[in-house]
Amino acid sequence: MKKQLNLDYLQGNTYFVDNIKEIYLEIGHQWLLNLPTQVIQLSEKWGFEFTQTMPELSYSFVALVKCQNKPAIIKIAPPQQSLARESLCLSSFHKDSPIIFHFDEKSNAILMEYIYPGEPLKNLVKAGQDEQATKIICGIIRELRFQDIPQQHSFKHLSELANDLSILKGHFDEKLLNKAIYLFQELTVDRSEDIMLHGDLHHDNILSSDHGWKIIDPHGYIGEPTAEVGAMIRNPYNCFPTDKPLRKILERRLSILKAELPYDIERIKAWCYCISVLSVAWTYEGFKKVNASEVALVQALSQVCF
Ligand SMILES: Nc1ncnc2c1ncn2[C@@H]1O[C@H](COP(=O)(O)OP(=O)(O)O)[C@@H](O)[C@H]1O
Ligand SMILES: [Mg+2]
Repeated sequence: MKKQLNLDYLQGNTYFVDNIKEIYLEIGHQWLLNLPTQVIQLSEKWGFEFTQTMPELSYSFVALVKCQNKPAIIKIAPPQQSLARESLCLSSFHKDSPIIFHFDEKSNAILMEYIYPGEPLKNLVKAGQDEQATKIICGIIRELRFQDIPQQHSFKHLSELANDLSILKGHFDEKLLNKAIYLFQELTVDRSEDIMLHGDLHHDNILSSDHGWKIIDPHGYIGEPTAEVGAMIRNPYNCFPTDKPLRKILERRLSILKAELPYDIERIKAWCYCISVLSVAWTYEGFKKVNASEVALVQALSQVCF
């Protein structure tokens, strides 16, 4: 445990460290400094030993630990990213996801089952098998489509997310933005088929296990099942396929979504578009700049879809 006290355990995770500092400024810096103490306190409370930090962290601290002689995962997030919904979502899924051993609201931490081998679905995309990866995601979306809404929850309805788009006014193409605002409204009128959605179902949040693909890291929203397509269309953002021009890749993915999912293709396209614009807005909110690749994707989607 001593090793943790000098922040060595974050070595190689500069993307995560930079994200936290850039988004949460001084509070984020303090949160990072306090992480070792938090890990030690939680290890005493829950009876685990720190093993190693997971590679490729982005917005939360995730580490492999040993609990009762078995590997487990500890996830701690800054207070602004509450893990309460993630914990409820993971415990409520019918689809395979890690078992939650403990959740602590005050430390905003979860101790959960370690998914082994835990290869992200992204590796298939990296290996040039984007079609196969898209079909696997479709299979998972089909399994998730009858997911009940828990009796007590604090999940946002997708319609509420549309408010986040307004931050883009003056910083993003007005026509493209208005299109997203209009579509968001149209898509959330009928709520008769609403379920609990994962809400961030992309290639990094789908891990291999000896018992098939498991899902991690849900945002947890209420909305129509078709909306689940929104996260995968623009991902994996750091190794998006390049075997064809962007438009062709989007067309290929959309044709697989159409063939594999029991949903109206117009709604699939509209959700892909809306959630991709929302992602531009969230990036702007966090980093105070629009991300050129995200904008290029929205432009290409708009040409392909409408
Ligand atoms: N239960 C788990 N079993 C195995 N690996 C995990 C588990 N949870 C997270 N990871 C690994 O840690 C990474 C980051 O965790 P994640 O919950 O997705 O955090 P973030 O919110 O930062 O995306 C994942 O992409 C995965 O590689
Ligand atoms: Mg993740």
